Amino acid sequence: MPEVEMAAVEAAQEQSGATRTPNAAGRYFVRFTREQRYLHAVLFTTFLGLAATGLPMRFSESFWARKFAAGVGGFGAILFFHKFCALVLTIAFLIHVKDLFVRAFMDHEKGVFWGPTSMVANWKDVKDLLGHMRWFLGLGPRPQFERYAYWEKFDYWAVFWGMVIIGFSGYAMWFAPFFAHFLPGWALNAVLVIHSEEGLLAILFIFSIHFVNTHLRPDSFPIDMVVFTGVESEEEFKLKRPMEYARMKAEGKLEKRLGIAPPLWLTNFSRVVGFLAVFIGLTLLVLTLSAYFS
Ligand code: HEM
Repeated sequence: MPEVEMAAVEAAQEQSGATRTPNAAGRYFVRFTREQRYLHAVLFTTFLGLAATGLPMRFSESFWARKFAAGVGGFGAILFFHKFCALVLTIAFLIHVKDLFVRAFMDHEKGVFWGPTSMVANWKDVKDLLGHMRWFLGLGPRPQFERYAYWEKFDYWAVFWGMVIIGFSGYAMWFAPFFAHFLPGWALNAVLVIHSEEGLLAILFIFSIHFVNTHLRPDSFPIDMVVFTGVESEEEFKLKRPMEYARMKAEGKLEKRLGIAPPLWLTNFSRVVGFLAVFIGLTLLVLTLSAYFS
């Protein structure tokens, strides 16, 4: 990091006396727009729905799958809910891709592909990853993160490409007679294996690595609510993304990001929804692992 930026970051952290527990009082900054929060809400609810319906189909012999199927009206009903969630998720995914396209090719926003606000990995991410390993071992300072840390980019791309693979294989199974015009018979059998294994991988990844990265690290434990409320306290901002804070300040854009403290109902709602999602995810993770290894 250039020395000037580093100095600004350190000054910001010193001034803030950044702690792990954000103050209720003080300034709040917008991290996620309303559209981004809605997109995430659709993503996580449909993903939970797809996992909760996909797993009983995959492990249909297990006692919990049969109990669940009996409770909801059979495996036909489970498949119906699976397809419903898949449709909603596909629409949300296509809206996201359309937004990216408009921002990149019609509004010519360079930050989509490159720079500090892009989701595309860059050299700093490699240095941050190595620096983080050194920091974990007590061999160096904590890396100073920008708008998106390397593990956030990794999570994003895991879901993005996962959607392409799971979506394509899912629709190929759903509309097999149509896809049979283009795909050989063996490929139609292969899509079931691909869908099933990629679905399992996605479930294991989201309910373990993504949960740990997001909620269980010391800065956010026990739950990070920023994607629900959209805002974070100034202390949290400085602690978690000091380089972004310093850059915004240097560019004179910090005040434009000022938001308002989330009302109590939203904080409570976010807490309940967040914990519920984590609880469902961890339950599905345990069921998956027990069925896989039994
Ligand atoms: C656009 C998205 C998706 C579509 C169109 C889709 C479609 C389908 C269909 C049609 C089946 C039934 C296959 C059969 O007839 O046996 C199925 C099964 C399954 N899906 Fe999806 N799905 C989608 C997303 C997902 C996601 C995101 C997950 C993981 C969270 C997932 C996990 C599964 C699992 C585990 C099975 C059971 C496979 C097996 O029997 O081994 N699906 N999906």
